Amino acid sequence: MPYVTPSFPFGNFERTALLRENVGFTAKKIYDEGKGYPIVGYFVLIEPFLLVRDPALVRSVLVTRFDHFSQRGHLIPPESVDSMMGRSIFGLPIPEWKCLRRNLTPCFAGTKLKAMFPMVNRCSKRLMRLLGDAAERHEGLLDVRDTMKRFQTDVICETLLAKLLKLRFTPVSAEHFFHVVLQRHLNAGKEDTRTSVGDEATFRTGFVDTLMRMRETPHCPNIPPLSEEKVMAQMAFFFLAGFETTSTTLTFCLFELSRHPTIQKRLAAEIMDVLKDNDWELDYSSLSKMTYMEKVIQETLRKYPVVPLLSRECVQNYAIPGSDWTIKKGTKVSVSVLGLHYDPIYFPDPTRFDPGRFDKSEVAKRPPACYIPYSLGPKACIGGQFAVFSMKVALAEIVSKYEVHPSDSTPEVLPIDPCVFQFSPKGPVMLKFHRRRKSLSDSASRGVQR
Ligand code: HEM
Repeated sequence: MPYVTPSFPFGNFERTALLRENVGFTAKKIYDEGKGYPIVGYFVLIEPFLLVRDPALVRSVLVTRFDHFSQRGHLIPPESVDSMMGRSIFGLPIPEWKCLRRNLTPCFAGTKLKAMFPMVNRCSKRLMRLLGDAAERHEGLLDVRDTMKRFQTDVICETLLAKLLKLRFTPVSAEHFFHVVLQRHLNAGKEDTRTSVGDEATFRTGFVDTLMRMRETPHCPNIPPLSEEKVMAQMAFFFLAGFETTSTTLTFCLFELSRHPTIQKRLAAEIMDVLKDNDWELDYSSLSKMTYMEKVIQETLRKYPVVPLLSRECVQNYAIPGSDWTIKKGTKVSVSVLGLHYDPIYFPDPTRFDPGRFDKSEVAKRPPACYIPYSLGPKACIGGQFAVFSMKVALAEIVSKYEVHPSDSTPEVLPIDPCVFQFSPKGPVMLKFHRRRKSLSDSASRGVQR
């Protein structure tokens, strides 16, 4: 098989290992060097890896031949990074992962998201207060990254964990945080911890209650009940997976909107139109009518895939159809999400921010597996819909009330942090928020007077 020439001692990962370059860029370079091949080899230290380039083969690895590539095949084993990560859904062996995934998937179903709307909406109102205060005090200048992190922490606490903890916006250590959440639920014992009524209560307690039930009784044949440590590990992983990814995507999205006033204007017009048709009320069904917003989010995740590299391990030999090559059992296989998203064959002029790439007619021209911000197949992101939903609520609130502009310190291109696996901006992202003269709240109060 073709491979990219390595160097000693880091193989092809020198710049990542020396914290000079985000892993996403390193893998993208390997993707680019393998141009013309469906698959290309590379090295991390002296261990050989394969990077799948061809979208059809990407689909085989992630979806159709999942039985051959069911292990994650991490660059660094999660348990060696941190024991919590190793015990989480991300690091568990297949039988335990399967059991957990099957039981937790219903917590993110469409009906659950709908029930969650009032909670997320409340978080967005708190976000607007935060944004309004800060904007007033600092002439509209705000670190969007920090603000979006606060919003998303609030969302996860309000929906997945226990709202009553009142820990949001409070800096505490992660371990202490999840310990308190767990103890609270354990102490509640058989008491009903639901303090509110209807669908809201059902959702808020759904995720943690499912974990609690899995702690009490076995849920799958030959799988013991979850230990206390494993319950905590799931809480921690879902919190981190949900808060970092979504707040980072919102940050990139607002940055691009600040740089593209025409796109921002079109988005604001769509939001206002939808709200106008709904008596100036934002509700769950109005979100699905914001189709341009959906494309703006999709394009943000194309340009900035928060998870820029996927990894799998081959668990049984796989002969690549139409070639003489076989991927041997034990080989680590990667997919460069960033490489695919910046391949000009699928996305011409890839550095340009253009939501029009997600018009139906444009999408139909591309192979489906060339756009994979949430990955594909049985191990794809469990919370993708949840993420889009909370981002839409935040964007609808922000863009209907504020115009977003670059500040004097906003760079043309955001530098990406080389020290973390995630694709996220390095340092604060300072943008300016100017209140719209005709905002949603003005329109809403007019609506009430009518
Ligand atoms: C913009 C937001 C998000 C993006 C781009 C994203 C992306 C991803 C990706 C690429 C994976 C890896 C899949 C693989 O290895 O094939 C993943 C896994 C995962 N994500 Fe997300 N994610 C996002 C938000 C969320 C949210 C909001 C949650 C939950 C609250 C979540 C929970 C998870 C979990 C639990 C996994 C592991 C799934 C498993 O192993 O079965 N993610 N995500």
